[in-house]
Amino acid sequence: MTSPIERSLVLVKPDAVRRGLLGEIISRFEQKGLAIEAMELRSMDASLADQHYADHVEKAFYPPLKEFMTSGPLVALVLGGDQVIEVVRAMIGATDGRKAAAGTIRGDLSLSNRENLVHASDSPESAARELALWFPKL
Ligand code: TYD
Repeated sequence: MTSPIERSLVLVKPDAVRRGLLGEIISRFEQKGLAIEAMELRSMDASLADQHYADHVEKAFYPPLKEFMTSGPLVALVLGGDQVIEVVRAMIGATDGRKAAAGTIRGDLSLSNRENLVHASDSPESAARELALWFPKL
C-alpha cells in the first residue's frame, strides 16, 4: 500500500522577495519535482505572526523576528510530494544561514540567523496546523 502524498506549508520570506530571489527559490522546488498545490503573494500581520510562531512568541528573538516577517510581502506555498516535509527541510538547510550546508537554499543564499529566506513545516503536526492557518479552504 502506498502512503498518501504529503503537503507542507512553505513561506518564501520578505527578504527573498526584496532580494529578487523568488524565482531562484521556487525554481528549486519545481526542479526537485514537488507539486505547487497553492501559491499566493501574502503578508503576515501581527496576529498571523503570533499564531504562526505560537511556539516562539515568548522567546527573546521573537520581537525582531515578528518585525522582519511583517515587513513586506511574502509568498505562501503549499507543496506536495512524497515525504515533502522532510525533503523541503533538507533543501532549505539549517536555520542559521551562516552554518547551513552549501547546496541548501539557506546555505547558498543567506548569511543570517533571522533573514533566512524560507520557512517550511518541520513535522506532520506542524504542517497540519500551518496549512489550516494559511490555507483554511484547501
Ligand atoms: P526555528 O523554528 O527554530 O527554525 P526554522 O525556521 O529552521 O524551523 O525558528 C523560526 C525562525 O525564527 C527562524 O527561521 C528564524 C528565527 N530565529 C531567529 O531570529 N533567531 C534565532 O536564534 C532562532 C533560533 C530563530
